[in-house]
Amino acid sequence: MDVCPVKGWVYQPVSGFESHLLRELSGGEAPRQIGPFYLSKTPPFSRDSAAPLVPRNVVFWFQNCWLEPFRAVFASISEAASILRGIQRNWAAALFTQYRRGALIAQKLPPLPAKRRPFPWRAPDSPMGAWTLLDARTLLASPRCASPFPNGTLEFEEDKTRPPSRAYLKLWEAFALSGAMPGAQDRCLDAGASPGGWTWVLATMGAAVVAIDRAPIDNALVAMPNVSFIKHDAFTMKPEDIGPIDWLCCDVICYPPRLYDWIEKWLASGLCKNFICTIKMQGEPDFETTRRFAVIPGSRVTHLHHNKHELTWIYTAQQPPPPAPANWTPNT
Ligand SMILES: C[S@@+](CC[C@H](N)C(=O)[O-])C[C@H]1O[C@@H](n2cnc3c(N)ncnc32)[C@H](O)[C@@H]1O
Repeated sequence: MDVCPVKGWVYQPVSGFESHLLRELSGGEAPRQIGPFYLSKTPPFSRDSAAPLVPRNVVFWFQNCWLEPFRAVFASISEAASILRGIQRNWAAALFTQYRRGALIAQKLPPLPAKRRPFPWRAPDSPMGAWTLLDARTLLASPRCASPFPNGTLEFEEDKTRPPSRAYLKLWEAFALSGAMPGAQDRCLDAGASPGGWTWVLATMGAAVVAIDRAPIDNALVAMPNVSFIKHDAFTMKPEDIGPIDWLCCDVICYPPRLYDWIEKWLASGLCKNFICTIKMQGEPDFETTRRFAVIPGSRVTHLHHNKHELTWIYTAQQPPPPAPANWTPNT
């Protein structure tokens, strides 16, 4: 058996947005394409001079990033599986070639839950690895990845009748990822609420919800005793107009700088503890505003599995740092 670390990080791009990732990785040496993945010397995190132990994410347009990649040459299917099993339990296959051989290796690994997740659900603390085959005898794998979900994907048991839009899946995923979520004692603001998927999530969790939109919200939500709807431009509402809130959730379609300016006011006001905001790209991705969000201490910007041409900024009072391994050091 021949195992050796790979210098750099393996990025699994978001399907359809590969060019965004390549632009983010274009600063130094060109990334090497490996099947659908990119091996790059650009780390997904950088050190913040004010808090050098806290890695801060600086690459955003990926589905998953392999943080400790290694290559291993193996002689048999059993040996490949035992290399992986000998490191840890959870391994997600990300095959792009050698499918039959890969399936045989996967059969010898502990199974990952195949079922859709019920909500509420939070990612377990145990690390989620990823592996692929480069050829019939070579594994490329990483025991630590940026996403706690297999290959960065999370599928829920959907509610196909009650929520008025499928946008609710984004909010569920953001809560599952952050590990924090509102409860019955919390007051939430949902900006850009209509037709009401996010308001439905918050209200069914028992929170008091102030929903704001210029368009009407679903009638069934207006009828809920813990939902109040304001038909208004969210960005002309000042934090003081709303008062103290535990969660600000915003899914407004707007240019990212408009959202940033409004969020800055909320942060300055000290009136909100937790934020989940969609940064929606209008045409070209706005890398500059994305970075401005990402440097807000204690927060992260990520591409959720349920995001489309958008990213999600998450800032929670008990925000865990981005998922770098404990012994993380830049390996450039
Ligand atoms: C993607 S939809 C939100 C979907 C919603 N989160 C859900 O779960 O159903 C975006 C919403 O932003 C609203 N919107 C756009 N500009 C706005 C503004 N300045 N103030 C309030 N709402 C706005 C639109 O009317 C639209 O309903």
